[in-house]
Formats: sequence, C-alpha cells, structure tokens
Amino acid sequence: MSPRFFQCYVENAAEVVLELARGLLARDACIAPKFFYDLLGSRLFAAITALPEYYPPRVEAEIFSIYRDEITHALGTQGTLIDLGAGNCEKVARLFPALQPAQYVAVDISVEFLRDALAHLSRQYPDTDMLGVGADFSTRLDLPAEVADKRRTFFYLGSSIGNFSGADAAMLLGRLRQNMKTGDGLLIGMDLVKASATLVAAYDDALGVTAAFNRNVLLHVNRILGSDFKLEDWRHVALFNTQAARIEMHLEAVRDVRIAWPGGSRLFAAHERIHTENAYKYTPESARTLLQQAGLAVRQLWTDPMRYFALLYATPEA
Ligand code: AVJ
Repeated sequence: MSPRFFQCYVENAAEVVLELARGLLARDACIAPKFFYDLLGSRLFAAITALPEYYPPRVEAEIFSIYRDEITHALGTQGTLIDLGAGNCEKVARLFPALQPAQYVAVDISVEFLRDALAHLSRQYPDTDMLGVGADFSTRLDLPAEVADKRRTFFYLGSSIGNFSGADAAMLLGRLRQNMKTGDGLLIGMDLVKASATLVAAYDDALGVTAAFNRNVLLHVNRILGSDFKLEDWRHVALFNTQAARIEMHLEAVRDVRIAWPGGSRLFAAHERIHTENAYKYTPESARTLLQQAGLAVRQLWTDPMRYFALLYATPEA
C-alpha cells in the first residue's frame, strides 16, 4: 500500500505576523517555540538530540529497550498507531516489529515533513496502511475519517508536552481524550525533575548548539516579520525555574538595541530578555495529576534506572 496524505492545517500568514509583533511588543517579550523550526532550526534540533548533555532521546530509547515486552503487552498488536509530532517517524517505526500495526498515522504540522519518511517506511512494511496528516494538534485535532478507530494508541514522545503550561497541557491531552474510546491508550514521554545543573546543561551545552538553535529563531523571525535582529546583539540564556518546575530559554540583549519591522519597533535595554521556550519537568505524581485532569488514568509508568525520564501509558477514565 502506498501512503496517503492529508493536509488539514493551513497557516494564515497575516495571523503569524500579528502573533510575532504582539509577542515582541508585550511587556515581557516572547517568541513562541514553534518559530524555532525553520529548515536550519530543525537541523539544529536534530543536532541537539545527538549532544552528550541532551539526555532525553537517549534515556527514552533506553526505557523502550528495557521494557519493550511490557510496553508491547500493554499496547497490544494489530492496532492503529497515531504518532503526534512524528517528524522522521524513526522512534515509533522501531516498534513496528513488536507492535505489527494495522495502520500507522503520522501527524506533524506539515505533511511535507512526512512524505520521505512514510514513503521509505511503507516499502519496509508494505502490509501496514500509512497515513500522513498535517495538523496543528496544539490548537485542534480533527483526524480524517480514514483514520481507523480500532485500538488506537496515541504516541506523544520526547517530552514535547513540556512546552505547554499546566492548563494548556491539560487542554491538549483533553483533546486527545476526546479522540479515544475504551480500549484505546496514550503512550507519553515526560522529562522528570532532577538536579538543576543536569537540566541546565541539557539546554546550555558546551558546544553551543542549543545557543545556536535559540538564536536562529531571530533569523527566522527576520524573514517572517521583516525585522532587523542582529545575532551579535543577543545571547542565549537557559535557567531552571524551580518554582514553576520548568527550564526557561531566553534571548538576552547584550547592549541597548532598537528592533524595527514594517509597522512597529521596540527598544530593548541591555540585559532585557525575550522568552523563547518553556520546558516543564514533571514528577511521577505531577504527571499522573496532569493526565487525570484530562480524563486519563495512568496504567503504567516506566522509568530508567537514574529516574531521568518517564514513559507513561494512560487510558480513558471509565
Ligand atoms: C522538542 C520541546 C521536547 O524542550 O527539550 C531542546 C526542545 N529546546 N533543546 C525540549 C528543545 C532546547 C525540546 N522539545
């Protein structure tokens, strides 16, 4: 079977420009993390996942390899696998031999990210029906009717949920819950609270790849908004906000700078910051509570020997 593609999300260029301008003019200036991922940003993120300090992908893979049989048993075989933020589809594809899915649904913001990966995968697994869906599931999730409703497992891996504050995360998970019925499940990766130095190093690596990833957002914003950010005026800051249990990334002005774009401008004083990302960290308890708020009960929680990362399997609460 060859893969089928559905683009359900259309970006509104005028809205994106407004959103960026609004963020830059806010008293606490911000740029949303989705703007990291232009072509170079996506490649820099791929490089981050290979850094020694950035443990989440390695530890998540370690949990999969230790508990593969238990995970397979919990999820069952021959079902529908729905991979949220699938990207290169690599992580979930590694489970195909064990899970033998009847259907695989890769969801990402643009189907263009999915075409090559799905074409490649469907040659490897010709008996699995494959769908590529372009959707912005952070704001809505309406799956095409072609998505089977037989034994759905949603995958939300890599601690991507960490970008959302408690209320927004609960809403996103609640939307997933609405697409599930009894017998379906969610496998979600969540990064755990740990020593602050370990967390900060993961977001402020010695090679400066994360700094490049963060600062690159300014080049992307310049292209979208027509602004005049200069890289040498901004430095990368990563800190762990213990109160909020989150890593914060900021860009800090190294001197007074005026940023201008068509229709607006702002003066940033030296040391003033633009907030670019939150990455919330969980405890097993706060993870359970969050899922429960969305009507999902945690059936299993797997973690690595160091307790750096958790993989949770949750099902709709009766
Ligand atoms: C893609 C949101 C899971 O927060 O760890 C990595 C993004 N930012 N290094 C994370 C990120 C800086 C990543 N997520």
